[in-house]
Amino acid sequence: MTLRVIQWATGGVGQAAIGQILLHPDLELVGCWVHSAEKAGKDVGEILGGDPIGVVATNSIEEILALEADCVLYSPLMPNPKEVAAILKSGKNVVTPLGWFWPTEQERSRMEPHCLEGGVTLHGTGIDPGGATEQQPLFFSGLSSAITYVRGEEYSDIRTYNAPDVVRHIMGFGGTPEEAMSGPMLALLSNGFHQSVQMCLDTLGFADAEIRATREVAVATAPIDSPIGVIEPGQVAAQQFAWEAFIGETKVVRVAVNWLMGDEHLDPPWVFGPEGKRFEVEVKGDPDCLVMIHGWHPSSVAAGLERNPGIVVTAAHCVNSIPYVCAAEPGILTFVDLPVVAGRAHPDLAR
Ligand SMILES: NC(=O)c1ccc[n+]([C@@H]2O[C@H](COP(=O)([O-])OP(=O)(O)OC[C@H]3O[C@@H](n4cnc5c(N)ncnc54)[C@H](OP(=O)(O)O)[C@@H]3O)[C@@H](O)[C@H]2O)c1
Repeated sequence: MTLRVIQWATGGVGQAAIGQILLHPDLELVGCWVHSAEKAGKDVGEILGGDPIGVVATNSIEEILALEADCVLYSPLMPNPKEVAAILKSGKNVVTPLGWFWPTEQERSRMEPHCLEGGVTLHGTGIDPGGATEQQPLFFSGLSSAITYVRGEEYSDIRTYNAPDVVRHIMGFGGTPEEAMSGPMLALLSNGFHQSVQMCLDTLGFADAEIRATREVAVATAPIDSPIGVIEPGQVAAQQFAWEAFIGETKVVRVAVNWLMGDEHLDPPWVFGPEGKRFEVEVKGDPDCLVMIHGWHPSSVAAGLERNPGIVVTAAHCVNSIPYVCAAEPGILTFVDLPVVAGRAHPDLAR
């Protein structure tokens, strides 16, 4: 049976997801919500720059809620819990990279009644959070015993992130270290990454741990060309955000992102090293294991601005989870509640 899917917002994640839904043998795209007035009324295929596919985008929430569908892939700019609640109450499952990865009891008690009312499931997933920062450390922990530490860490060239306003004004790149350190980014990121750390702590069964968040910056030592303009010497050109859980002084979980404007002119002299841009997943136990993930970064800054694999991975994790989420019991379900989420064969190779 084909599952009817609505895509909510057509930014980077949304556009990648639409392409993937069209290729998925179990899914059918039946609707699309857009924020921009200029996209409303357009065929979704044309929004993606291709031929019409017979699905017209709307910016009417009422229209989307009234549409018969099994699942909404919810990927707007910012999460709006009231919107998510309305979608759930309308009887549609929700898969999203914007939260509910490992909700607190308070978040669960707020949202789960809407799931139960609609008889549907809410699932948060993505790349980080929603992949390399908790799902994959937990997955690989299953191949070791007596776990003492898990880690999920991203090393990326932030010049490939095609959101210049966010990079400059919210992340604080190109400003002074003082401006960046006092900016909102650590708090904004903490909501998601705190859930990643807590999911690892709770699932692995670590004793009560204290989670500490840190932010460090590196400045340019020479002018650096970037999509937000030239980063001048002394301005912020790299940042590291980390969330670490300690039992006493023993570190048991680390989740971190390292975002560099290249690695040639930085003070401190942070570098990607021989492994280059990557995601790392590490487990210490019996035995230890270290996993390097390549391929989730673009081959160049220009390629990343065109189509960023990290965004494609985020969309794929959402799309691929839809059949499992639709088949699950109602409620907020996380990775530890769902079966292994697998992709599907390319249509040319499928049975
Ligand atoms: N968990 C993860 O691993 C992960 C990874 C990547 C991204 N994300 C999150 O996923 C979300 C989408 O990412 P993205 O890369 O697709 O972002 P994006 O390219 O900036 O697209 C966001 C879309 O949201 C809509 N939008 C714009 N302003 C809005 C507003 N004021 N209110 C509601 N919607 C608005 C627009 O849709 P239309 O163009 O259709 O009008 C826009 O294209 C972001 O919140 C991002 O943080 C999570």
